[in-house]
Amino acid sequence: MAYEHLLITKESGYALIQFNRPDVLNALNIKLMTELVDALEELDKETEVRCIILTGNEKAFAAGADIKEMANTSAMEMLQRDQFARWDRIRKIKKPLIAAVSGFALGGGCELMMTCDLVIASETAKIGQPEINIGVMPGAGGTQRLTRAVGKVKAMEMVLTGRPISAQEALQWGLVNKVVPVEYYLQEAKELAKEIASKAPMAVKLAKESVLKAFDTTIEGGLEFERKNFYLLFSSEDQKEGMKAFIEKRKPEWKGK
Ligand code: HXC
Repeated sequence: MAYEHLLITKESGYALIQFNRPDVLNALNIKLMTELVDALEELDKETEVRCIILTGNEKAFAAGADIKEMANTSAMEMLQRDQFARWDRIRKIKKPLIAAVSGFALGGGCELMMTCDLVIASETAKIGQPEINIGVMPGAGGTQRLTRAVGKVKAMEMVLTGRPISAQEALQWGLVNKVVPVEYYLQEAKELAKEIASKAPMAVKLAKESVLKAFDTTIEGGLEFERKNFYLLFSSEDQKEGMKAFIEKRKPEWKGK
């Protein structure tokens, strides 16, 4: 996989996607987003890839949608090309996505971070929805995912003032899993990816699907969905192996089926 704005590396059990537009703080132009969705969908199909890390560089995860590209776009153009369809495709990726965030995660960058399932942040992270400063508002899920993550008043504060929050605030507010010194954020994300990659793949897949279901269903519907996925895992070889290994006091050997 060769891309203009992404660098992809694969390590045992997981893949790393690095945004590569450092001159513009990894601003998310259409080309980068198209490549990202393509890469994610390809990696989602590869059985040896169990988890995917998204990252930028120390200075920026991503400073938002590319303002220069977007500035003269008309509403009709965005509507016709279904501007945010790519974002819906990211939401449908089955494998766990970990955002490894350092520096700016603003606007679309913050929204992309929130589309991921887990977030490791460096102490230097600045996370926010500054669209209000350029006369617009979040458009890739910011008003919805942020509000679900941090609650109404904090989401209002971030969206209406545009002020970024620090990594520590993001940790307190439940937007990120862990904050570490900048030298370690990528390493920490890799450790997390390796840990998840060591689990039974089908259980990971159905567990992610079930947790995400909580965002768009009633508790009744969600519990029903969870239960069906739980039952389904009892048709997997890995359930037999996992429970047998526990009883025999040994490490399980997953087959991914
Ligand atoms: C295009 C961007 C950019 C962006 C930075 N750059 N952010 N280009 N789109 N979102 C470019 C700058 O123009 C500049 O290019 C270079 O990156 C370095 O940026 P500076 O501003 O010189 O750096 P600094 O002074 O350190 O300030 C960093 C910053 C600031 C605070 C992050 O760049 C900034 O406010 N950026 C915009 C953040 C933003 O508003 N994001 C939301 C976008 S709207 P040159 O060529 O001058 O060197 C959005 C909508 C989401 O995301 C909708 C769904 C996708």
